[in-house]
Amino acid sequence: MPTIECYPCRKLISVAPGTELLAALRQAGIEVDASCGGKGTCGKCIVRITKGEVNSSSLGTLPGTAVADGYVLACRTLVMQTDLTVEVPEAAPRQGGKFSDTDETHLVRSELLPKDADYDPLAVKWLLIVPPPQLESGLSDLDRLTRALQRDWGKLRVTYPLQVLRAVAGAVRSHLGLVTVTLVKESDHIHVIRLEPGDTTTRHFGLAVDVGTTTVAVQLIDLTCAQILATRTDYNGQISCGLDVISRINYARRPERLEELRTRILETINRLLKQAAAGLDVDPGEICNAVISGNTTMTHLLLGLNPEQIRLHPYTPTVLQPPYLDAGDIGLAIHPDSWVCLSPCVGSYVGGDITAGILCTDLATATEELSLFVDIGTNGELVIGNKDFLVTTACSAGPAFEGAGIECGMRAAVGAIEKIDVDPATGCARFATIGNVPPKGICGSGMIDLLANLYTTGWLDAGGKFDRSRPSPAIEVSGRRARYIIAPTGTTEGCSSTDKPISISELDLENIIRAKAAIYSACALLLHQLNLDFADLANVYIAGGFGRFLDLEKAITIGLLPDIPREKFHYIGNSSLLGSFMVAVSQRFRQRQLELAARMTCVELSTDPAYMDEYTAALFLPHTDPTRFPSIRQTIIRPPLPAEKGEVPA
Ligand code: FES
Repeated sequence: MPTIECYPCRKLISVAPGTELLAALRQAGIEVDASCGGKGTCGKCIVRITKGEVNSSSLGTLPGTAVADGYVLACRTLVMQTDLTVEVPEAAPRQGGKFSDTDETHLVRSELLPKDADYDPLAVKWLLIVPPPQLESGLSDLDRLTRALQRDWGKLRVTYPLQVLRAVAGAVRSHLGLVTVTLVKESDHIHVIRLEPGDTTTRHFGLAVDVGTTTVAVQLIDLTCAQILATRTDYNGQISCGLDVISRINYARRPERLEELRTRILETINRLLKQAAAGLDVDPGEICNAVISGNTTMTHLLLGLNPEQIRLHPYTPTVLQPPYLDAGDIGLAIHPDSWVCLSPCVGSYVGGDITAGILCTDLATATEELSLFVDIGTNGELVIGNKDFLVTTACSAGPAFEGAGIECGMRAAVGAIEKIDVDPATGCARFATIGNVPPKGICGSGMIDLLANLYTTGWLDAGGKFDRSRPSPAIEVSGRRARYIIAPTGTTEGCSSTDKPISISELDLENIIRAKAAIYSACALLLHQLNLDFADLANVYIAGGFGRFLDLEKAITIGLLPDIPREKFHYIGNSSLLGSFMVAVSQRFRQRQLELAARMTCVELSTDPAYMDEYTAALFLPHTDPTRFPSIRQTIIRPPLPAEKGEVPA
């Protein structure tokens, strides 16, 4: 078998001839960015063959000079019989840092959150006394445990996993027969999850998980009082296999890659869960309730289900509403016999993150007022409705607002620039970072701020191009491209904390403008299809991982959100995580979620010929039609003309 020597990591691997080079490198544990999911379109998996021969179909897609220098796309290259030496560029560390892992329940109106009376998690802890064994009764330890349970819960059938059978003899003979049983009650039976000697009812833990395409968040919950104990967030470990759901679906075409994606997401969740439990004196094995919400593709990938049909007509996923599944079967590192509840999906592109998210809005109440819920993520998803109807759709916004696909982009984490002012006269930036530390990058709320301020001060035109007619120390022009330097390199205050300046290029701006156009046009078109207008909305709920705040005024200025009275907007943070928390603490909310999911009607916007027109019209700041944004004004502060300065032209 040919060997591949990789540099600079110095790994040596042997693979069969015909193996795809990207797969071979991954097999060796070498991280290679494959943003398009291995379709050969993103160019991120470029590597250099310095010795040996390969069969590459990427040569036509790379510049001639790169080909002459031995560069190939790893996803389009097959290993042949000869040994190879390959240079693999080191993957740039993702600007993660410490995420702002705050409890966001305060963002949701208190009347929408579960109250004490609602606390009713799926798995409950029950204290019992099991009578001691008696020679004459002939009852086994399990018989006596079952009878004690049936005394309290009625004559239902009781089922036990093997681990409980193994624990029962010891448990019923200690603490004078006092045991704590963790159980789930179904209509016709009781399912025991865990048996502990003594009274452990004060230690009852749950888990809420949001599996986003770009980021993953987990929350550890004290189920005795419905308190969030810790939240941890990180990038989804699948990112290097594709930036959006379509790329991931493409990547998952081969069984070993589907398994790789499943392993990657599980590794992310389990690592975050371990981090959340560490320091709280909680063993992950004590967690017996888990609720996971993710879009339809993420749900499939987590369960190892082939997601291919999601992108093929007639877009029918394997499952929309998964049954309760054992944590051990999924691979979730909590108590293996716990039942895991996955939020129900509604369609191929409207998933459990949305049915969890709308629990945090008036859409979950019996109001006649019309509300719009918009989850601004890599996949933009929206729901419009009231007590009579719920219509939903999705659009592909890309990961720009989550900090991915933008050169200096990062998640809302310590070191992220979240607020920026632009000096109207000089064009220079003044900014604030999360944690008040030197900047590492810029997060979604910072990008929105920057775009809005550059536009209103006239340093950026409606098409997203910098003003080249007047010099600014912050704008660097190179040929046809220009970039805006937010924080230069250096050691003084206001300088980048990395070895590169923090900047935004016009290419980055194009991505951000495309993302905002996708969201706005989807909202506008869906309303139009329902014969409604933005003015008809009583509430607009905005969800997304923007960090501590989203400046609504700035979001309206760039045309991401409609120009309607500001008091109608409510920013509710990561509503997929919050909704998962609600379901984890209350079965009533699970019931409500299922009812809402059943009432939702999915609409496919991309088949509407008007979609492209709406989208194209929204590719400007704030919009090509200024009458839609009457309150947005651009102020161009130009330098005084010579005559105005009293100078006589030569
Ligand atoms: Fe190879 Fe995108 S071009 S992964």
